[in-house]
Amino acid sequence: MMRKSFESWMDSQLARVECKLDELVCANVPAGLGEVMRYGVLDGGKRLRPLLVLAAAQALRADGEAALRAACAVELIHAYSLIHDDMPCMDNDVLRRGKPTVHVKYGEAQAMLAGDAMQALAFEVLTPDEDAGGGNPVAPPLQARLCSLLARASGVQGMAGGQAIDLASVGQPLDEASLQDMHRRKTGALLQASVQMGAACGGVGLDSVSWDALTEYGAALGLAFQVVDDILDVTQGSDVLGKTAGKDADQNKPTYVSVLGLDGARRRADALHQRARAALERSEVADRHWLVMLADRVVERQS
Ligand code: IPE
Ligand code: IPE
Ligand code: MG
Ligand code: MG
Ligand code: MG
Repeated sequence: MMRKSFESWMDSQLARVECKLDELVCANVPAGLGEVMRYGVLDGGKRLRPLLVLAAAQALRADGEAALRAACAVELIHAYSLIHDDMPCMDNDVLRRGKPTVHVKYGEAQAMLAGDAMQALAFEVLTPDEDAGGGNPVAPPLQARLCSLLARASGVQGMAGGQAIDLASVGQPLDEASLQDMHRRKTGALLQASVQMGAACGGVGLDSVSWDALTEYGAALGLAFQVVDDILDVTQGSDVLGKTAGKDADQNKPTYVSVLGLDGARRRADALHQRARAALERSEVADRHWLVMLADRVVERQS
């Protein structure tokens, strides 16, 4: 029963996100760049980050335009990171979300520019102009908070820094602490920020115990997510993943599987899952059921 209502909750949230992204990413921009951006972000992906934003916001009974914009902003950063991750100078991948990668379809320069523009657009989305009546769908103090959370998770402390470590680690036997640091940055930070941004939309009512608990939930889930990504890279086929399987070993990347072995990586994902669930228990937020189910989904997923 719960699982069925979770599926229908996800379907309705995914439709909201798709519709908003469709509105926010215009085709009508110079030299075809809009078409490239739309190819990179619309109609694909699991949309886990937007779902985390919306689940965290709804846990705090906040579910308006600000949360929806935050959900789209995080997905724009994520989709931009995938476009760049796939480029020949990085992972050199030809398949993403079941389609040819952006640079394969549109060329490297357009792929790079689409990523750049999507990064900027994410922050535009978080800072809308006042409407005709002088109101703003994202109150200015919340705009600043959301921009700060997203910028930190995207930059050197987060995704970009983690990606730099990833590329510098090719062929290196990383110890577990360094591997964890890389994963926390390159993937964990944006997932954690998704939870925090959703919680921030809940406004001033959130106590520090719950904020810390949700932050810990996001950290554990974020790391678990990349551990599972490493596992799926060796256990699944490209058809199921919608991206090239077996890339990590091919490119000699240190991963949780190469460092802990497949069983060790699975045990680690389970332990992080338990940590995420325990953190949620500590939070005093009203409705945490979708957050619980999203954590389950992260470790049980097959793609
Ligand atoms: C893939 O992320 C890249 C990582 C950060 C591990 P996702 O598995 O969330 O990719 P999509 O959004 O579903 O395509
Ligand atoms: C990518 O990690 C993380 C990003 C910041 C995009 P991976 O290189 O493992 O992601 P996939 O496996 O290509 O999706
Ligand atoms: Mg990569
Ligand atoms: Mg990659
Ligand atoms: Mg991977």
